[in-house]
Amino acid sequence: MAPPVDVEIAGRRARVFDAPADLADAAARAIVEVARASVEASGRFWWALAGGTTPRAVYECLAQPPLVSEMPWVRTFVFFGDERAVPHDHPDSNFRMAREAMLGRVPIPVANVFGVVDPHIDAMRAAQEYEARLRSAWGEGAIPVFDLVLLGIGEDGHTASLFPGTAALDESLRLVTVGAKDNSPRVTFTFPLLNHGRRVWFLVTGVAKAPVIARIFSEPSPELPAARVRPVAGECFWWLDRAAASTLK
Ligand code: 6PG
Repeated sequence: MAPPVDVEIAGRRARVFDAPADLADAAARAIVEVARASVEASGRFWWALAGGTTPRAVYECLAQPPLVSEMPWVRTFVFFGDERAVPHDHPDSNFRMAREAMLGRVPIPVANVFGVVDPHIDAMRAAQEYEARLRSAWGEGAIPVFDLVLLGIGEDGHTASLFPGTAALDESLRLVTVGAKDNSPRVTFTFPLLNHGRRVWFLVTGVAKAPVIARIFSEPSPELPAARVRPVAGECFWWLDRAAASTLK
């Protein structure tokens, strides 16, 4: 396995790995480091999970030795950056993916896992309720500051459930709102919440993502929602495999 390569292009920082498995292992180890440092600093690790398929390998690394015993699970608090409008036992549910890959296999207290409640019944009500729980759990009245936000990116440049050309992109007050993929509602963090993260990490693999990565790393591309993730006081970092980074110059 060749060592990863760090690059900085157009003001964006990335680490490029030979293969997805190398990326997953390294990202999982980095998450343990962030979790432990966060607990050391504040007594808790506030973590927003990404959905989709890419993060699964990272979650699985965290759910098995050696990392499973290194994570401070009891002080880890997990939220979901977005959720499809389906029950938690549905194959498309991000909650189900995270539970199968990690949460159902590690000693994290049930009370520390904040899933979106009944997104399939009424997405806007679920979004408003999720925001209320988020604000209540955070407690300080300000916008919650996640120690780590994990995100993916779609080939169209969407991230979380912030899709191109949708109203959710313009939400500047709510922390959680309803996004839409092909008119199918999804509950999603908004840019104000995402951009308050201390660390926002994109996990991106596969040649299909190479064109959108090339655009993100070469031009302002404001029409790409992922390009608008720019933490106000935190870091944005891209974890890429060689295939996704294959067109970076
Ligand atoms: C979701 C995600 C979404 C995802 C991208 C990439 O609920 O699907 O939040 O933003 O991160 O679509 O998905 P893949 O990892 O499956 O390519």
